[in-house]
Amino acid sequence: MSHPVAEEAPAAHGDALNLLRAEIAEASDPAEAAQRAVEVLHDRFPHYDWLGIYWVDGADLVLGPWVGPEATEHTRIPIGTGICGAAAASGQTEIIADVDADPRYLACFASTKSEIVVPIFADGSVVGEIDIDGSDANAFDETDGRFLEEVAALLAPLRPRA
Ligand code: SME
Repeated sequence: MSHPVAEEAPAAHGDALNLLRAEIAEASDPAEAAQRAVEVLHDRFPHYDWLGIYWVDGADLVLGPWVGPEATEHTRIPIGTGICGAAAASGQTEIIADVDADPRYLACFASTKSEIVVPIFADGSVVGEIDIDGSDANAFDETDGRFLEEVAALLAPLRPRA
């Protein structure tokens, strides 16, 4: 007997979304809320080795809150450059199983083997993105992508405003 298998999001994703909503609601300002969000994601998902939010600033992406073992030198990335810039230009989630095989890759950390970048939209435009580096090859899949797209919707109201 065959029947369609309902694809279920891991319970951890639902739990994390609830926690993120609570942390964002409790924070005293948008910058603190975004900082708490990256910390929750990093704490809850061990394969999210380095995790940062880039916000769109004119023609560039500018690094906002991040958490991980070390700082990146790529604190400002032109839209269109790197995997981050590609995702911002296209509005598409990028899941890169092997960063060394992708000519667009802008190297940050020697330990990075795979990467996922998920755009953050507001009013129909890309206003930022979530960038996660993994130290295992193929660390991210479509399940991470769908989860992080839900996270991105929670982060959109936290973008810096002029
Ligand atoms: N690897 C990214 C640059 C950002 S660092 O990973 C933090 C890219 O290719 O755009």
